[in-house]
Amino acid sequence: MTSDGDRLHVEFWVPDADPATVAELLRHEARMLPSRSGLRLGLAPGENVAALTPSGEDGTTAPATGTSLEDGISFEWPALSWQPGSTPAVFQIRVTASGGGSSVTLDARGLGRHLGASESSDLVGWFVTEILGPVVRAPSPDRASDWWTDRRARSPSGAASRAGYSDPIYHRPNFLAIVDRIRLSRDDVLLEVGCGGGAFLRDALESGCRAYAIDHSPEMVAATRVLNRAAIEDGRLEVRDADAHSLPFPDGLCTVAVSTGVLHFLDDPVRALSEVRRVLRPGGRLCVFIGSKELRGTPAAPEPMASRLHWYEDEELVALARAAGFAEARVDRPDLEPYARRVGVPAEAMPLFAAAMRGGQMLEAVRSRID
Ligand SMILES: C[S@@+](CC[C@H](N)C(=O)[O-])C[C@H]1O[C@@H](n2cnc3c(N)ncnc32)[C@H](O)[C@@H]1O
Repeated sequence: MTSDGDRLHVEFWVPDADPATVAELLRHEARMLPSRSGLRLGLAPGENVAALTPSGEDGTTAPATGTSLEDGISFEWPALSWQPGSTPAVFQIRVTASGGGSSVTLDARGLGRHLGASESSDLVGWFVTEILGPVVRAPSPDRASDWWTDRRARSPSGAASRAGYSDPIYHRPNFLAIVDRIRLSRDDVLLEVGCGGGAFLRDALESGCRAYAIDHSPEMVAATRVLNRAAIEDGRLEVRDADAHSLPFPDGLCTVAVSTGVLHFLDDPVRALSEVRRVLRPGGRLCVFIGSKELRGTPAAPEPMASRLHWYEDEELVALARAAGFAEARVDRPDLEPYARRVGVPAEAMPLFAAAMRGGQMLEAVRSRID
């Protein structure tokens, strides 16, 4: 990486992948760059790069030009209107074949003139806080661990996560245990919080019920919509990109609520469960499944994810449900082994589902009919 205040050059090498493949991955990842990052990054001609306002609206936009990433896609941030002498900052992103793989290069020109910093100390300060610091921080163990936790579980993204959560063999025993408990009928209206790739919904919808679901990962929402296209077209399923702490559904919509493998990630579980209670009808049932502390550090909950999860004792789960306003609440540890056999979990993973492992916690609660 080089920068003299006017030029910045970043090169990132991806082994064993040709430029067309890397360009496609780059466009996809850019499209999925969460809006929370404050940036919309269109990497195809005619698309816009947009710096988003705090409310998520397009702020400054920069139209992308060029023919393809392989030939180079360019865009310019306009001059700073409040800074005398500021000129546009020009970016080019390009993917080229290199050393048996592909290089992604980012070139920026005019950064110093764009900022219009007359003092060297301001220019160097900008470089350290805005470029050097974030780049050096990115691969640090804590930041990289957070990134992996998000990528694989907390807000899954990327091709491997999409495929994994569309057919999550190691979660299927849990799904069957939940389905056995909640005994859905055609008259039920199901809410699923944190639906991942939509695999549980697909099983649940076989009952003929209707369903509403949310996940805060745009890629999981898209994967759920693909897997459950028929139910969506039939008007039996609605899937939204939303946060578990603030559900985008009206009071009393659903008869049953399910969440599996999600509570570990929530910073304010009482608020999230209160939201579920609000969306349940009086008398509505809640079924929450999570892995127990016994799984911490096993292949079911490996590091770096394990130490980033909230783990609960059984009594703590009951207390969370009560604090969220549920009248009746109880937790048990279902025997997952028969379900694991039914779905064909490989032999080497079967010990994780054995009754002796006590690896799953099932929280069941009911919204009171009078509150
Ligand atoms: C380990 S995955 C489980 C997915 C699915 N339930 C399953 O068992 O296959 C956790 C899911 O919860 C979602 N999630 C985590 N925190 C969330 C939040 N605050 N709001 C909405 N979804 C959340 C993630 O995006 C991810 O899809």
